[in-house]
Amino acid sequence: MGRASVLLALLHLLLLLGTVRCSDGVCAQLIRPLGYPCSEHTVETKDGFLLSVQHIPHGRVALGEKTGPPVFLQHGLFQGGDTWFVNSVEESLGSILADNGFDVWVGNVRGTRWSYGHVTLSENDKAFWDWSWQELAQYDLLAMITYVYSATNSKVFYVGHSQGTIMALAAFTMPNVVRMIEAAALLCPISYLDHISSSFVLRAVGMHLDQMLLTVGIDQLNFRSDIGVQILDSVCDGQVDCNDLLSAITGKNCCFNVSRLDYYLEYEPHPSSTKNLNHLFQMIRTGTFAKYDYGLLQNLITYGRFYPPAFDLADIPASLPIWMGYGGSDALADVTDVQRTIEELRSEPELLYIDKYGHIDFIMSVNAKDDVYGELIRFFRSQGWPSSY
Ligand SMILES: *[C@@H]1O[C@H](CO)[C@@H](O)[C@H](O)[C@H]1NC(C)=O
Repeated sequence: MGRASVLLALLHLLLLLGTVRCSDGVCAQLIRPLGYPCSEHTVETKDGFLLSVQHIPHGRVALGEKTGPPVFLQHGLFQGGDTWFVNSVEESLGSILADNGFDVWVGNVRGTRWSYGHVTLSENDKAFWDWSWQELAQYDLLAMITYVYSATNSKVFYVGHSQGTIMALAAFTMPNVVRMIEAAALLCPISYLDHISSSFVLRAVGMHLDQMLLTVGIDQLNFRSDIGVQILDSVCDGQVDCNDLLSAITGKNCCFNVSRLDYYLEYEPHPSSTKNLNHLFQMIRTGTFAKYDYGLLQNLITYGRFYPPAFDLADIPASLPIWMGYGGSDALADVTDVQRTIEELRSEPELLYIDKYGHIDFIMSVNAKDDVYGELIRFFRSQGWPSSY
């Protein structure tokens, strides 16, 4: 049995067992058992979503009264805040930052199992899934960063992976967000997606999976559901070599711990919205980094113009220090697209390129602590890190 079949079989098994325990938060399930202090916070967005944010004020050993500078971790698509803690404490970025004296805050966007609440809507309402990464940037990121900024009375170091970098690059064009950011580290940075080489994603784009799902009224994309697994099967169906499903989706990951797969699958994948997939596929089809495209007429009503306005990377202030880690084997954050992002920024980001790294390696490689996180922490320390720490 290839790795894909293993992955699919495990997903099927999870459906049967229903092992998802979402009553406890990430703190109780994952972070406190590792030996870290952790508290759960609820942040309400402007449009009524209730997001969970975890706070890890220090590492396994407390450093007295002093609290380090706040760092906010933003996960990617189909992932949740758990993603920063699922390797060992020596390997995971969340625990490494806490042990290095940072005041760690973990974001969870709407639709993930940790952020399933809304003041009026339930997950069964169509409106609960009526959003894309645009709302994640404009509402979720704004609300969570504002919360951390107010709670700590300090500018915030930002770490994002994949969709967490799309959100950041969109939100950092907004003066009310970027004023709260000290510096940003972007892992697998994405603003353009038109050179994507993922065979699985290209096949899904080619068969108009996004529009098909919206047409039949599947608004939630949940690969832990029966429908979700059928969707995966239908994309693979004789067209894509899904023997190694993860590689088919993300590109080959050099240093991912395959024997830990069943543990990762206890937490991931998380749900997202079909509209979000649709927005991402629009980026692939059109080569733009723009707001959601509703079609000519609805665009005119929504934006006052026929085409959705683009996010202009040149609107991100040159004074914001940015660091980027990207990989030559990443089939989603393609090197050509990353180059274009870099060119359009007004600042000159510091870059870490790792030829053999794929999309998942940057968060889950067993060597990331040596290959990536040491550099990331050095960068943060070189920016506004008070010498007393
Ligand atoms: C890989 O995962 C297995 C199972 O959790 C674990 O025992 C092993 O230590 C991990 N290997 C590395 C290098 O982290």
